[in-house]
Amino acid sequence: MRVAVFGLGYVGFTTACCIASQGHHVAGMDANAAKRAAIAAGQAPISEPGVQALFDTARAEGRFTVAGSAAEALEGADIAMICVGTPSGPDGAQDMRFIAEVTRQIGEALSLAPPRALTLAYRSTLRPGSIEELVRPVLASRLPPAHMAALELVSNPEFLREATAVADYFAPPRIVIGTEAGHGSVALEALYAGIEAPVFRCRFREAEFTKFVDNTWHAAKVAFANEIGRLCLRLGLDAKQVHEIFVSDTRLNISPAYLRPGGAFGGSCLPKDVRALQHIAADCGANTHVVDALLRSNEVHKHELYERAVRTLPAGASVLLVGLAFKPGTDDLRESPNVDMARKLLAAGFRLAVYDPALDAGKLVGANLGHAFASLPRLSDLLVSRQVAEAGGFDLVIAANATIEELSFLAPPPRILDIGVLA
Ligand SMILES: NC(=O)c1ccc[n+]([C@@H]2O[C@H](COP(=O)([O-])OP(=O)(O)OC[C@H]3O[C@@H](n4cnc5c(N)ncnc54)[C@H](O)[C@@H]3O)[C@@H](O)[C@H]2O)c1
Repeated sequence: MRVAVFGLGYVGFTTACCIASQGHHVAGMDANAAKRAAIAAGQAPISEPGVQALFDTARAEGRFTVAGSAAEALEGADIAMICVGTPSGPDGAQDMRFIAEVTRQIGEALSLAPPRALTLAYRSTLRPGSIEELVRPVLASRLPPAHMAALELVSNPEFLREATAVADYFAPPRIVIGTEAGHGSVALEALYAGIEAPVFRCRFREAEFTKFVDNTWHAAKVAFANEIGRLCLRLGLDAKQVHEIFVSDTRLNISPAYLRPGGAFGGSCLPKDVRALQHIAADCGANTHVVDALLRSNEVHKHELYERAVRTLPAGASVLLVGLAFKPGTDDLRESPNVDMARKLLAAGFRLAVYDPALDAGKLVGANLGHAFASLPRLSDLLVSRQVAEAGGFDLVIAANATIEELSFLAPPPRILDIGVLA
């Protein structure tokens, strides 16, 4: 294949060399004339293990050329990869000027020739909506409809890390291909044919967002690990050993567990122990800003779920809450987010019924009893039998935990909102 690469920085140059090493022909284009001259003279513009060797081979075999203009780079190209920078602007928003400018240059270059098939793959990290609200309008302002129709736009975020960029290119954690319809790209998938990685085909915006989610998660992990590390040092603990024990749990700690967007956390352990850790930190003068944000974030999330539930409900509507405990099969109501949901619904004047087969209001004792009745003094009046729950007639059924799976509602099926899954 012939591939044009726009932006020969860390991502673009590495990508160009890796693509060329697979037998494809690459034409690289960079806005910086000094950089172009250095590359044309055989000098890699970045220091990255393995890149110079790949570059030397590609040049020697005539598979890497430096283009002097967008039109030259695009000559005969099947795919153009856009790898220009997207730095932070003064207000923290992405500065999209390089994306806008390179797209304008590509549009102008394409307008000089008859329409032809070309895949424009954006490797740069783009905020959601960039392709639909910036890239496409810029191209459409330069190109007639026939040219536009021949173009395939793709958001194809890059996951390589500097210092291991070549290895990461050939073994990425996954390949994400965001297109208009979300069904993948024949051209791009042919280019990646030799690379073993799961392929996710989605629409533009989900693909665009991927990289922000990844990097924010990585940042959250580093900040969390360092808060715990600092706390260990203040407490005189062996931070390394605490870390080793923590990461050894790949079932609950380093795993997809607790990472699905849906219900708030609650129950008898998580909120209590987060609070206790905050107190330990405060007591020894440690700052734990990430940890300190957790309970506040959880309260905001509980309220968001409540607002989602009532958004389209008329005043005084009838609601069935299925599952009151924080998970099915237990009658432990301590700090259950579903108790908060019930309390908010009652306070707002909705007619509430609760179905939870594990619960017998008469059997609640101790702290569990205190919590339940402090939040829901009329708890025994709210609980309904399975027959009543299944008979229907509710304006809304809120599936608060997996208890809903036990129920078979009579026709017509009720409107069910599953708050365990954000969709
Ligand atoms: N560096 C990383 O580790 C990494 C990893 C994954 C994704 N990304 C993302 O990839 C993108 C590029 O990052 P980078 O670190 O390679 O940036 P970089 O600053 O190293 O390189 C960008 C290059 O684009 C060139 N450029 C600007 N406008 C141009 C134009 N109109 N035509 C041609 N070239 C032009 C610049 O001269 C520069 O050489 C960013 O969106 C970044 O967030 C970076």
